[in-house]
Amino acid sequence: MPRITNNFKGFMNTPENDNFLRACRGESVDRTPVWLMRQAGRYMPEYRALRSKHTILEMIHSPELSAEVTLQPIDAFDLDAAIIFADILTLLDEMGMGLTFVAGEGPQFSHPIRETSDLDRLEVRPAKEALGYTIDAIGVTLNRLQNRIPLIGFSGAPFTLACYAIQGRGSRDFYMAKQLMYQQPETWDRLMSILADAITDYLLAQVEAGVHAVQLFDSWAGCLSPGDYRERVAPYSNRIFQAIKQAYPEIPFIHFGTDTSAMLDEIKTAAGDVIGVDWRTDFGRAREVLGTTPAQGNMDPLKLLGSPETIETGVREVIRANAGRCGHIFNLGHGIHKETPPENVKYLVDLVHQVG
Ligand code: CP3
Repeated sequence: MPRITNNFKGFMNTPENDNFLRACRGESVDRTPVWLMRQAGRYMPEYRALRSKHTILEMIHSPELSAEVTLQPIDAFDLDAAIIFADILTLLDEMGMGLTFVAGEGPQFSHPIRETSDLDRLEVRPAKEALGYTIDAIGVTLNRLQNRIPLIGFSGAPFTLACYAIQGRGSRDFYMAKQLMYQQPETWDRLMSILADAITDYLLAQVEAGVHAVQLFDSWAGCLSPGDYRERVAPYSNRIFQAIKQAYPEIPFIHFGTDTSAMLDEIKTAAGDVIGVDWRTDFGRAREVLGTTPAQGNMDPLKLLGSPETIETGVREVIRANAGRCGHIFNLGHGIHKETPPENVKYLVDLVHQVG
């Protein structure tokens, strides 16, 4: 099937509202840009209406539905960037790991990686083919966005994907992943290497399809000591970063992890033009550690369940901690919670533009 063509590719075109891209480059902006991790999702009635007719994987597998969901928060709020609707786990699913989302329990894999021989089963195909539905969704979305705001592409980072691949499901400490890392270091390195190459190929395909920036989600990096992160994980995230920068130096690369306050310098050294800061970290301190490197974050997502005053205090706290530095993208310090009232999101976005 021919790919959808469009004239709105990130490396060819500047969107009308380019505050997000300017902030990613550390340049001055008209107003502080804001987008929210997981901005498309269950807190929106429009999402739940579609979701009542389709599973999440059906939605992701359909470029039309993915584009529609991507644009739901863009139509509802004055956001400065869109993020393509997909999931970090589809890359593992397409390697033959058997992903299901079990209601109330989250993602599960029927064929987890537990030993070296499991690696031989992994089916590595070009991302354009294996994850072609997301690549096509980017084309459909860009055509509908008509260059108004930038579109962000993303992938899970090797460590976070390895956590799910080995544990086979969500976990607090992903002990099986760390057990394999400590007990079978060669298998660990092989798996991380396979993932790093597949992620690189996936992100390059997204950039070629036209995304204006990419974000690497290392959601569970905080499960690691800084030393283990540096030695067993950072080289693989770095390999991805180097490859993307070499091919597309102008495309901003955002690197996000949670529970990373004790290792922000390691995260920054590993990868990223912009560092995503989780909500447990003091934003002012983070900006000091990061120096001139742009930063994204970091209000506690659950403040959005509070009163307008709570939200206002939260917004002002982050803006004050940023202390007027260039290169700030306002975001939550992790994904938006499904119980969030949509009117609170509108309040937050407008407030950031007013006071930021
Ligand atoms: O940000 C966006 O709006 C883009 C879409 C997006 C989703 N997942 C859609 C989704 C993105 C960027 C992700 C990333 C993702 N997925 C991460 C990294 C970010 C983070 O939050 O740390 C992780 C760890 C996952 C894995 C994942 N996907 C889990 C644990 C779950 C289940 C959550 C739950 O509470 O059931 C998902 C499913 C998922 N991915 C949903 C959405 C909107 C909810 C699915 C539903 O409708 O039931």
